[in-house]
Amino acid sequence: MRSTFCCHLNLSPVMIMKGFSAPISSYVSPRAQAVTEPPARIGFLGLGIMGSPMAHNLLKAGVDLTVWNRTKSKCDPLISLGAKYKPSPEEVAASCDVTFAMLADPQSAVDVACGKHGAANGMGPGKGYVDVSTVDGDTSKLINGHMKSTGALFLEAPVSGSKKPAEDGQLIFLTAGDKNLYEAVGSLLDIMGKVHISSPLFK
Ligand SMILES: NC(=O)c1ccc[n+]([C@@H]2O[C@H](COP(=O)([O-])OP(=O)(O)OC[C@H]3O[C@@H](n4cnc5c(N)ncnc54)[C@H](OP(=O)(O)O)[C@@H]3O)[C@@H](O)[C@H]2O)c1
Repeated sequence: MRSTFCCHLNLSPVMIMKGFSAPISSYVSPRAQAVTEPPARIGFLGLGIMGSPMAHNLLKAGVDLTVWNRTKSKCDPLISLGAKYKPSPEEVAASCDVTFAMLADPQSAVDVACGKHGAANGMGPGKGYVDVSTVDGDTSKLINGHMKSTGALFLEAPVSGSKKPAEDGQLIFLTAGDKNLYEAVGSLLDIMGKVHISSPLFK
């Protein structure tokens, strides 16, 4: 899979398997504050083919989950299983410590993260945004910039896999971004995936 990870990071990846992790060098923006570890309240934006089973796995694992989807009816099965609902990405981000986003493409990823009532409006120091959509490097940098300007941390984490691995919690995450956020969400990535691969380039 050719992801943003491959496209704009040229450093050797470090593979993190369940039960094993390697040290990673880091630089965290001085404005940024550590995300509560482990983050208690998790948001999930985008409940399509991939997002729905990923959110479902978090919920099944007992995560305090708040969801939003453009088409609200896709939230209903998760709400019936105990998920909370907020009517905008902004309100999800404002009510959560870490918010994941699984959107269709670069335009929707930017709209949901940075648009009117987008997640960035609800972000701030001590919070984190993890974009698990597959987007190009420029899009990821744009979203990173919006999140960082609020004092929040950012991680890009596109996945390798498909619907079945998403249902089975067997996705592979290719991550780059803030080390502090990467470490804070490790247990959540372990719920949704079998491997996360990180770059040592942390901004
Ligand atoms: N499917 C796969 O096998 C697979 C595998 C690896 C990676 N991926 C990547 O994972 C991401 C999600 O894929 P998917 O298969 O889950 O796609 P999907 O089923 O089409 O779901 C896309 C999601 O994006 C939302 N969305 C689309 N346009 C939007 C907009 N303008 N504003 C707000 N929300 C919008 C959709 O909301 P609505 O429900 O309202 O339409 C839906 O929640 C993509 O980046 C894809 O490349 C997919």
